[in-house]
Amino acid sequence: MFDVMKGKTVTTSYEFTNDTHAISFPYAMPEGPILPINQFVIRGSEKNIMLDTGPLLNAEGTIAALSSVMNPQDLDYIFLTHMDLDHVGGLHEILKLAPKARVVGNMTVMGKGLSMYNIPPHRFAAVFPGQEINLGNHVLRVEESLLEDGHTSWLFDKTTRTFFTSDGFGSLQFGQVPQYAEMVDSNAYAQGFAMWQHMNFHMLPRLDMSQFRGIINYMRSLDVRQIASVHGPIVRESVQGIFDLMEDVPGAELPPHPELPAIFHL
Ligand SMILES: [Fe+2]
Ligand SMILES: [Fe+2]
Repeated sequence: MFDVMKGKTVTTSYEFTNDTHAISFPYAMPEGPILPINQFVIRGSEKNIMLDTGPLLNAEGTIAALSSVMNPQDLDYIFLTHMDLDHVGGLHEILKLAPKARVVGNMTVMGKGLSMYNIPPHRFAAVFPGQEINLGNHVLRVEESLLEDGHTSWLFDKTTRTFFTSDGFGSLQFGQVPQYAEMVDSNAYAQGFAMWQHMNFHMLPRLDMSQFRGIINYMRSLDVRQIASVHGPIVRESVQGIFDLMEDVPGAELPPHPELPAIFHL
């Protein structure tokens, strides 16, 4: 929870569906709203997985929260959605504590991981869309990141019907970051949702809307019970409403940009 009055952040963890925990760090953007940065842990009956490792600046908080959920030594897989630093910053610190964990991701993640992040090749395992990761009582399907880019992968837990997304489906928050989307005023949520998608995905207004609707309809067809984005409260009560919201995002009216800082007014 971010305490605005004290300007402090605390990393929290909570179980939001069977065996599935969110680790949440509320990053206060300079003079702006709050960007939730989540990681997820599923403790399966046979294997354990962590999705993303958070920003380097919060590695200590991520590790403390992870340790409250499970012993990092028991991690089998660390799935990386993509290689932005808010998603992989804590990787090296966590790998030190998780000697048997394999880093899992798509080919771009592997390429960047080996060349830029110095992940030893023997610790990496590449996966492709449609493949399934079996944790025993949870089966996760690797999904293309339908609303992001070719460098990113998502996961769908067929057991709990949780769709784990990365930057997509996030929502900037104003004031506090609650655990669940339904705890946020719906107008504020919709505004933070549209702002975040537009900040990340500049091509949204230029998309072919029929294809975009096709993507959303694919997700609608999956009987999704939860959407767990790295950058937003968990969506659980109004999943279909969030798909509707996403469908409206390309045409969403956003607040105007703030004025240029005084330094530019020469
Ligand atoms: Fe990103
Ligand atoms: Fe991100």
